[in-house]
Amino acid sequence: MRFRRQESSLVVDAPAKLNLFLAVRGRRSDGYHDLETVMVSIGLFDTLRFTPAPDGVLQLSSRSLLPSAQNLPDSEANLVLRAARLLMETTQPRAGATIELTKRIPIASGLAGGSTDAAATLHGLNTLWRTGLSREDLHQLAASLGSDVNFFLDSSPLAVCTGRGEIINPQPLRGPLDFVVVRPETGLSTAQVFAALDPKQSAQRPQSDDLLHALKHGRLNHVASCMHNDLQRVAVGLNPSVARALAALSRGRTFGRMMTGSGSACYGLCVSRRHARSLESQLKAEFGGRAWAVRTTV
Ligand code: C5P
Repeated sequence: MRFRRQESSLVVDAPAKLNLFLAVRGRRSDGYHDLETVMVSIGLFDTLRFTPAPDGVLQLSSRSLLPSAQNLPDSEANLVLRAARLLMETTQPRAGATIELTKRIPIASGLAGGSTDAAATLHGLNTLWRTGLSREDLHQLAASLGSDVNFFLDSSPLAVCTGRGEIINPQPLRGPLDFVVVRPETGLSTAQVFAALDPKQSAQRPQSDDLLHALKHGRLNHVASCMHNDLQRVAVGLNPSVARALAALSRGRTFGRMMTGSGSACYGLCVSRRHARSLESQLKAEFGGRAWAVRTTV
């Protein structure tokens, strides 16, 4: 998450994430699934501008810079407003805010656009309102908003996340990684993908340690061979365009290719930024502009 002051406003760039590893460990009694996942944040950002307003005022306006000008569904806007209201109710700041959201991260993609916006809202308004909430307090609020929100609060570019995804164990990232991300025409709902999972599936129990070791030593071939996503098979069944995205990434000679999170976006690991950019222009033509060359954030 990057911050800058502009006059009385605070502007926050909120990054998307990719899951390099996602293993489902089992279904829980609260309806969620226990996960072990490795996430990296990437240089595809939404931008949020927070400006002080009189006590009690909370106003959100949004615009989309997405290629196919997808309208922002209420659920995404709601998550920003829910985060703002939650912080306001918890801290009683005697101030309000207007929030302008500029959307570049495609929705229903497994890139956690809604979650990163919620984390940016907690962080941004906590700073603007000088509430004095601790990091732990913010993490508690984040976990109540969604499973991916906590990852973005710490601004660590790489982390192993467990529990339902909200327990964060930051890891050092040795050097940047380059990817090309492609979003098929239609998205996927996280709840639907998890609901379609066969609880008895995944007899193999892949571990994230091998991936972390490969990342530490910077061997891209090894990183690619350790990438894993238990949700991919069920997502392909629900939305066959995921398979088309993976096939296109395979033709582009990426090191490894996989769906991120619950999809439908997929990514390929590239040898360099140049490789990622050349694939981006090829894939933009094939996927209606919905391809992005991205690097891990620092
Ligand atoms: O936490 P979040 O609101 O992003 O999750 C959306 C939905 O995805 C949940 O309501 C749940 O159905 C499913 N989910 C799950 N296990 C997780 C995370 C999400 O079953 N660890």
